[in-house]
Amino acid sequence: MTGSWATFGADLHVDLAAAAGVRGLRAALTEALREAARSGRLAPGTRLPSSRSFAADLGIARNTVAEAYAELVAEGWLTARQGSGTRVAERAAVRRAAGGRQAVRGPARRGPAYSLVPGSPDLGGFPRGAWLAAARRALTAAPNEAFGYAADARGRPELREALAGYLARARGVYADPDRIVLCAGFAHALQLLGRVLRGRRVREVAVEGYSLDVHRDLLAGAGLTTRPLWVDEAGARTPDLAGLGPRVGAVLLTPAHQFPTGAALTPARRAAAVDWARSTGGLILEDDYDGEFRYDRQPVGALQGLDPDRVVYLGTASKSLAPGLRMGWMVLPPDLLEEVLAAKGAVDWTSSALDQLTLAEFITSGAYDRHVRGMRLRYRRRRDDLVAAVAGRVPVSGIAAGLHAVLDLPPGTERSIVQAAAWQDLALEGLARFRHPDSQMPPREALVVGYGTPATSAWAPTLAALTAALP
Ligand SMILES: Cc1ncc(COP(=O)(O)O)c(C=O)c1O
Repeated sequence: MTGSWATFGADLHVDLAAAAGVRGLRAALTEALREAARSGRLAPGTRLPSSRSFAADLGIARNTVAEAYAELVAEGWLTARQGSGTRVAERAAVRRAAGGRQAVRGPARRGPAYSLVPGSPDLGGFPRGAWLAAARRALTAAPNEAFGYAADARGRPELREALAGYLARARGVYADPDRIVLCAGFAHALQLLGRVLRGRRVREVAVEGYSLDVHRDLLAGAGLTTRPLWVDEAGARTPDLAGLGPRVGAVLLTPAHQFPTGAALTPARRAAAVDWARSTGGLILEDDYDGEFRYDRQPVGALQGLDPDRVVYLGTASKSLAPGLRMGWMVLPPDLLEEVLAAKGAVDWTSSALDQLTLAEFITSGAYDRHVRGMRLRYRRRRDDLVAAVAGRVPVSGIAAGLHAVLDLPPGTERSIVQAAAWQDLALEGLARFRHPDSQMPPREALVVGYGTPATSAWAPTLAALTAALP
């Protein structure tokens, strides 16, 4: 699916970013390509991406790529032939250092060439053109007051209105625009909610026994202790909430697609969470980070629909668009609104009104739906590639949704496989990294494979590197 130029790695992107500031973009790109050919990382005969698509992947001008190619053709590292594109010259690869992975020369080594670390969408998939068009329309229509200090700490009404419609339609959320508060991504929302919970004298928050440490740390930073729930193939064991005791005032869940195990919270477990919240006055914080990406059937609706008075729905643009946007949203129970706004401050300092207006326009024009549908297709193909590539080697699960899957490993192998992959220039993460330190669950050894992470042009070699690393 990645076409004939799919053998190219994302490492050059990383090198480029590191070197460009010092040496200029074209020189950095030329050197990065030269080094890749010289070291043999790009095998002789490898076809390079067209200057147009490579420039798009890197986010630089096409001419810059074309000039770098031309210089390397002149030096003999590359060949360019009508009809067969630009390729690494046959004599280009000279040698590799002992161990076969260190570049022959060059400054300190960059990070791994390939990455399947979960948590990122394919950044090359950002809809630059459609976003720019939405920004232009939004800017043209923006009232002058949009350029001033925000009058409403909830964020721009245009975006709250657009999100309310979208979330109700696509995610089954009861979303009144008046109860939506915009924020700088999920992490910011969690910080604010941590402060609010602490202000309500909550001492402990239940979290999933496998979850992101950065999120647990944000809660800890607000003075809250996190208590792990077991996680199994039905999601977090919410019936255990009551057993955690009265100090637990909230639970943070990823119902649509448990992060990182990939399970969907079953209806019975959803009901158990809501029952606990109703009987104790507790709150459910629903992290719907990648709810749009479900492949084999309709997306699972948001838990919030079961009880909008007890569930805080938390959404983000980090998976559907890009983490760099730093845009997220909360749909709050009515009695939480004032406290969250007090924590946020009287003015909305956190995200640009122009970005908010652009996202509003992006959603209402239908561009968001189109983008999500396109990316869903791209990720589903990758998921299918992944499942096919590991078939018969290791069990794969968590594949119905999201941008990552879990590959179970034989006992005692997770650490060594992650390390061996790193030596082969592939960044991987094991499940152990996500385990809550107090969790009593029997350890499960697995890889959490973020198949959304690689650039399109890096997907095929990244997958090859993964299969080479598996037992
Ligand atoms: C489980 C989970 N929740 C939320 C997010 C999104 O966080 P943010 O909106 O702060 O970028 C991520 C991103 O990696 C995630 O993995």
